[in-house]
Amino acid sequence: MTDKVLVLNGPNLGRLGSREPEIYGSETLDDISQACEKWAAELGIEVEVRQTDDEAELVGWLHEAVDRELPVVLNPAAFTHYSYSLRDACAQVATPLVEVHLSNPAARESFRHTSVIGAVATGTIAGFGIDSYRLALQAIAARG
Ligand code: DQA
Repeated sequence: MTDKVLVLNGPNLGRLGSREPEIYGSETLDDISQACEKWAAELGIEVEVRQTDDEAELVGWLHEAVDRELPVVLNPAAFTHYSYSLRDACAQVATPLVEVHLSNPAARESFRHTSVIGAVATGTIAGFGIDSYRLALQAIAARG
């Protein structure tokens, strides 16, 4: 069983709570973080939740996941749609990597219909609000 999962969040997700609540809900990143800790404890795993607005920092965290062989839950936020450097970093991750989204990008503006991450993720969970993270942690725990 996996003992540590990195839960990585991209740009603007630090603004959750006040950012477009009609789309992203009223929970803050801190709420998501606490919920992830609780779900992880129930699943017998550990999580470390991080957020950055910086593409280079996010790429660096994925390199860390590769080197430490840690599974990843990744909400790439807007980087989902255009960041080839993030895509190339994700492609190096041999452990499970679950792409998550609070909203369902397929049901939104056309620029959100493309994910450059999806093809290098183990799988994608989108549209369930904060529950997307719970489902991702369950999927990782189930893979062991
Ligand atoms: C998001 C969806 C993205 O299109 C958007 O750029 C985000 C959040 C989501 O969680 O629904 O910042 O990843």
